[in-house]
Amino acid sequence: MNLSNKINRKIFKVVAAAGDELGVPVFVIGGYVRDAILGRNSKDVDFVVLGSGIELAQKVAGKLGNNTEAKYFKNFGTAMVRYKNWVLEFVGARKESYRKNSRKPIVENGTLEDDQNRRDFTINAMSVSLQKENYGELYDPFNGLKDIKNKIIRTPLDPDITFSDDPLRMMRAIRFATQLGFKIEPETLEAIKKNKNRISIVSKERITDELNKIILADRPSTGFKLLDKTGLLKIIFPQMAALKGVEIIDNKGHKDNFYHTLEVLDNVAAKSDDLWLRWAAILHDIAKPVTKKFDKKAGWTFHGHEFVGAKMVPKIFKQLKLPQNEKMKYVQKLVQLHLRPIVLSQEIVTDSAVRRLLFDAGDDIDDLMLLCEADITSKNEEKVKRYLNNFKLVRQKLVEVEEKDRIRNWQPPVSGEIIMKTFGLKPSREVGEIKNAIREAILDGKIPNEFDAAYNFMLEEGKKLGLTPVETKR
Ligand code: CTP
Repeated sequence: MNLSNKINRKIFKVVAAAGDELGVPVFVIGGYVRDAILGRNSKDVDFVVLGSGIELAQKVAGKLGNNTEAKYFKNFGTAMVRYKNWVLEFVGARKESYRKNSRKPIVENGTLEDDQNRRDFTINAMSVSLQKENYGELYDPFNGLKDIKNKIIRTPLDPDITFSDDPLRMMRAIRFATQLGFKIEPETLEAIKKNKNRISIVSKERITDELNKIILADRPSTGFKLLDKTGLLKIIFPQMAALKGVEIIDNKGHKDNFYHTLEVLDNVAAKSDDLWLRWAAILHDIAKPVTKKFDKKAGWTFHGHEFVGAKMVPKIFKQLKLPQNEKMKYVQKLVQLHLRPIVLSQEIVTDSAVRRLLFDAGDDIDDLMLLCEADITSKNEEKVKRYLNNFKLVRQKLVEVEEKDRIRNWQPPVSGEIIMKTFGLKPSREVGEIKNAIREAILDGKIPNEFDAAYNFMLEEGKKLGLTPVETKR
């Protein structure tokens, strides 16, 4: 197969000319070739050279001139050149062998074949020549092209060796299967089951990078099912594995929360590309296993799972080396609030309940509503219709109340400062109490969201606490 049409851009011509001048054969290899065949656009290109990757990169950077940023990693014999929004990586062809307890390989110079042998999957081991005499010719020793056609993930060598060399590849196999909608070939899948425990020598950051790529795929459930099937999930994310299973007492079972969570995740994924909203879907029921109880009358209950779940979020984020910042707080908030719109839609939707929800959710209200709608996974069509209809009402009401009261990012009209000035107080418990009381009264609709009403209410609350104003309203 000739792929010269896929490598007819200036960048490839420049690299080819540089290789030619240095008298070293150069090949495009790996992900770029795979993606070119799949018709996916990529601007990350790996070049393998039968010679020094660093020298070639220096020559390429010189030829590309301005707009170029080059980094040379002498210790590793690799180099990276950034040009516009392209990232070009150069490495000399190598042969790697691994020791049992380390991910650090012993590296020697090698042939193109050696280099292809050390790659993770047949679809990632193809290379394309940039040499004059056969520009664009595909080198495909493991039939990667056929595997792309048949949608198969397979290791080039014995999978035990490939995975044992670099256990992260087990995650990568599942990630590619999920992103591309491919199947993992049975022997390769068996080898993941067998080598699963070796994942523990890989850094958490790298595992989570792959996990996030799975989560960002069109149907993330595919990846989680494979992680479960291979036993990796229990090792890398035990809290999620614990969602699996159904217990039956007195002929009453509960739903399998693992598969339910995956349905919710896919539903969210169909509507939003946001990684953190997808994490909220993954974690929304995470506390169900620890809050599960069986009651003779009520059957299975998971009381408080939204609060316990929100509390579990920081620990899970820490364990997975996810960021401990406002993204985590956002996920926590959605987990904690995920039942609120449902409860609301089951009652008569009052203004004050909607106002309170708007206040608690703030700008994340739309994401919360999306999550809640995704959470309806009942097989009973009537029930689904009823729920969705109720949600429509809630959404309508949300718009009305927001228009009227502007509650998102809202602060009550009387601030803590005014309270302190009025009663001559220093920051204290009383100030907090009065402030809360004003906020609650407005959210409950007892007083309007206006300064005068709030001020008078503050005076009354102060009186109840035995306070007298030292300063009156302007
Ligand atoms: N590779 C490998 N084993 C790994 C990581 C990478 O053999 N653990 C090889 C594969 O040949 C891969 C190439 O290095 O194609 C480049 O790796 P990387 O840039 O991480 O992945 P891509 O395949 O390019 O895919 P993506 O950009 O989606 O991560």
